[in-house]
Amino acid sequence: MQNFYKNKKVLITGHSGFKGSWLAQILVNWGADVIGISLPPDTKPSLFEVLKLSDRIKKNYFVDIRDFQKLKEIFETEKPEIVFHLAAQPLVRDSYDDPLKTHSTNVIGTANILQVIKEFGGVKSAVIITTDKVYENKERDYSYKETDALGGYDPYSASKAAADIVTNSYIQSFFNPNDFGSKHNTLIAVARAGNVIGGGDWAKDRLVPDMIKAIFEKKEALVIRNPKAVRPWQHVFEPLRGYLMLGQYLYNGETNKSGAWNFGPCEEDFVSVEHLIKEGILILGTGNYNIVEDNSKHEANLLKLNINKAATNLNWFPKWVLKESLKATFEWYGQFCKGSEKMMDITDQQINLYFSN
Ligand SMILES: NC(=O)c1ccc[n+]([C@@H]2O[C@H](COP(=O)([O-])OP(=O)(O)OC[C@H]3O[C@@H](n4cnc5c(N)ncnc54)[C@H](O)[C@@H]3O)[C@@H](O)[C@H]2O)c1
Repeated sequence: MQNFYKNKKVLITGHSGFKGSWLAQILVNWGADVIGISLPPDTKPSLFEVLKLSDRIKKNYFVDIRDFQKLKEIFETEKPEIVFHLAAQPLVRDSYDDPLKTHSTNVIGTANILQVIKEFGGVKSAVIITTDKVYENKERDYSYKETDALGGYDPYSASKAAADIVTNSYIQSFFNPNDFGSKHNTLIAVARAGNVIGGGDWAKDRLVPDMIKAIFEKKEALVIRNPKAVRPWQHVFEPLRGYLMLGQYLYNGETNKSGAWNFGPCEEDFVSVEHLIKEGILILGTGNYNIVEDNSKHEANLLKLNINKAATNLNWFPKWVLKESLKATFEWYGQFCKGSEKMMDITDQQINLYFSN
């Protein structure tokens, strides 16, 4: 993959966010020409600033993905060959406070990206990032497959399910794999991943960032709202590897890679919030927590993903078990909390360790 991405023109939306910054760092390291579209980072600190990405990528645009005209100008100027669309309002609890912003960003923003890809015509492959939360959650012990019905109780999940449906409509109507090479030259996939952890996430209401803030900054017990909620936890590298594989396969014209893909952990890493916190405290050797249940805003209790399609057809498997993912995550934050000047080093060491074999 490293050789493949060298000198490719890759556009990432959401490059100032947690997953987007890791993706940009990997691609810059691999010699890709990275173009980023997002809003300025909205957390302090932010991984984007820690890694000084605005100076290190080829072109940095702080532009709202709801502004179609601006997107068009950027695509015509930069002429990207590969697109990873990650920009979104990604927080379930915020989506209750501002459902319209969530829907306009996640649904219309995604439609804008697909439409601009259609009008520009020069993109060879695009990976649209949705989430495991797109499935109609029946709250039973079942791992959702790509063919299962979509739904969404909270506004975030609904907006992502809608973005997923919009993408599928663009695939069928305009980027149909059956018409590849005759009517169009673009292949598109949708990637649905579970809850990711990793160094450098400072978003609010997320478990690991909250844990780091409680233990290292506030020096108090972590408060957890929903201890029994089970989630598909995985290190951020796992879905990013899936996205990068898709980007490459689609670029190479593999029509059977178009469509939806789940990326999640192995069965044993579907664990509860409380289990993850206990593991984390063991690894850190410090910290405690209090349970203050808060069900005022509905969040799913049980969510599992079936990853057989990616395993069989992409040869994609999770590389790290939860313990390794937590260890890498806390090592990264541990270094950061020491005020280390060497964040680029540990970031690149972790990338090399994960991607080198
Ligand atoms: N973090 C997770 O656990 C997780 C799990 C599943 C799916 N996802 C999905 O992965 C993607 C990235 O998530 P993240 O955790 O990095 O989120 P993040 O909040 O760290 O980053 C979001 C990015 O989107 C950009 N953005 C938001 N609104 C925008 C707008 N109107 N115009 C342009 N850019 C805008 C932000 O500037 C930022 O760069 C999202 O699509 C999210 O739904 C995340």
